[in-house]
Amino acid sequence: MEEKVYSMPRIGEAAPEFKAVTTQGEINFPGDYKGSWVILFSHPADFTPVCTSEFMTFATMEKQFNEANCKLVGLSVDGLYSHIAWLRTIKEKIEYKGMKNVEVMFPLIEDITMEVATKYGMMMPGESNTKAVRAVFVIDPKGIVRTVLYYPLSLGRNFDEIYRIVIALQAADEFNIATPADWRPGDEVIVPTAGSCGTAKNRMEGKEGEMKCYDWFFCTKKLDKETVLKKIIKK
Ligand code: BEZ
Repeated sequence: MEEKVYSMPRIGEAAPEFKAVTTQGEINFPGDYKGSWVILFSHPADFTPVCTSEFMTFATMEKQFNEANCKLVGLSVDGLYSHIAWLRTIKEKIEYKGMKNVEVMFPLIEDITMEVATKYGMMMPGESNTKAVRAVFVIDPKGIVRTVLYYPLSLGRNFDEIYRIVIALQAADEFNIATPADWRPGDEVIVPTAGSCGTAKNRMEGKEGEMKCYDWFFCTKKLDKETVLKKIIKK
């Protein structure tokens, strides 16, 4: 019997290409999204409660993501008519946590052959043979995978965290910094290690502006929330 090969795109690699049918027409991925950040995410199945809560949340936050130059693309191994019927039900019937009349405007890929789900490592047979796990791929404007998250079927994702990831990655690129644990815009950022940003001695003596060093390998500096958001958010 032929053994099935499950691959998985890795951080720093080009996002695998595919063409697909979606609720918003055909897409060519990631080519159609060059110049934008894009989140490709999978959900296990249409007409299921956790997925419904996730779609309502993501759809409600779509404008916020778009203002950060980030588009959303969903996927499950259901067919197009199931997707359309589910999204219509969400809009017409579901009221949840203050969200109602929610219209999902971003494309939802049909993947009944599981071709895309297999290419993106969304099928995890230990969890389910018939449903994709909750995967999230954050892809940059050059089509490079920058973050990968995997959640099991029972666990709804934290969409504030996904938004934080998009902003933090863009801040790291724009300002040549790294972001510490739980970073949010306005918090101090990490200055890259010596070589790219002056000598360790300069860094220790604080000769480079507002830098604060705890040891030679751990220096932070201020980065205003307004400076970060002005660069990233386009309303
Ligand atoms: C859900 O979205 O509720 C769900 C989907 C698949 C398995 C378990 C839960």
